[in-house]
Amino acid sequence: MPITPSEKIWMDGELVAWDDARIHVLTHTLHYGCGVFEGVRAYATAQGPAVFRLTDHIKRLFDSARIFMLDIPFTVDELVEATKETVRVNKLDSCYIRPLVYLGYGEMGLNPLPCPVNVSIAVWPWGSYLGDEGIANGVRMKISSWQRHDPNAMPPAAKGTGMYINSSMAKIEAIKAGYDEAILLSPQGYVSECTGENIFVVRHGRIVTPPTSAGALEGITQNSVMTIARDLGYECEVGNILRSDLYVAEEAFLTGTAAEVVPIRSVDDRELGPPGPITKQIQETYFATVRGEVDRYKDWLEHAR
Ligand SMILES: Cc1ncc(COP(=O)(O)O)c(C=O)c1O
Repeated sequence: MPITPSEKIWMDGELVAWDDARIHVLTHTLHYGCGVFEGVRAYATAQGPAVFRLTDHIKRLFDSARIFMLDIPFTVDELVEATKETVRVNKLDSCYIRPLVYLGYGEMGLNPLPCPVNVSIAVWPWGSYLGDEGIANGVRMKISSWQRHDPNAMPPAAKGTGMYINSSMAKIEAIKAGYDEAILLSPQGYVSECTGENIFVVRHGRIVTPPTSAGALEGITQNSVMTIARDLGYECEVGNILRSDLYVAEEAFLTGTAAEVVPIRSVDDRELGPPGPITKQIQETYFATVRGEVDRYKDWLEHAR
């Protein structure tokens, strides 16, 4: 999806003009893919723009960095403030937010420890990642021939830049085959997640989403949706899902900051039908929540101004 430029990007404590946010071609992360990032969203609310669960996202950024032994030269509070400042100066009511921690210029070779650690935060207006049609009517999914990472090859709990080659391969395969998005299985054969989203299935009225042990990222939208689902009175739990569970699901949907809550219309050409009532109810509540319209979840909103 194309990027619409905003005005300023935060780089290591400075706000620089969008077009000047450049790095050297020998930037370490560009070569070996050792960096970590977040995807966050700010939404327009009646009280102005609010970043959804910003502190939780920044904490996950620090956890990802810890896994890779990247020493971020800022605190969680400093990056929370820097994110709000970047949203503010760009005068956007709603936007996608991309904090990135990368190893900079000055060292080469596979020992990343002596490299400088740089941080940037960019924001831009971005519609729903899988499109309005997907949000309304659901997306067509394909189980990928690419597996999610084995946890002892790549740690799925880290949102590491280089790890997303796996997602991109699965995405390309799905799109070339005429589908909207891919589902990856774990090396043990359980359903893991999608290329940049967690997955949920509804079976016998129960809502289930795969665990981290199946290679799924601990999604912040996943966590929000589990809370919402339980508050709506549904049984919702983390548990292993088999490929065949997807084929016979009553409903299925995916969740992610970029994608939001998207119904699944079919999996490997097994039609699940139009978005079901549980998916629709959760989707509606999620959108109302991020817009600050649900009192009980107002603590999830962190106002930028
Ligand atoms: C691989 C992967 N799984 C799941 C998610 C969903 O996580 P969240 O809801 O925190 O955006 C993402 C997005 O960050 C992701 O990249």
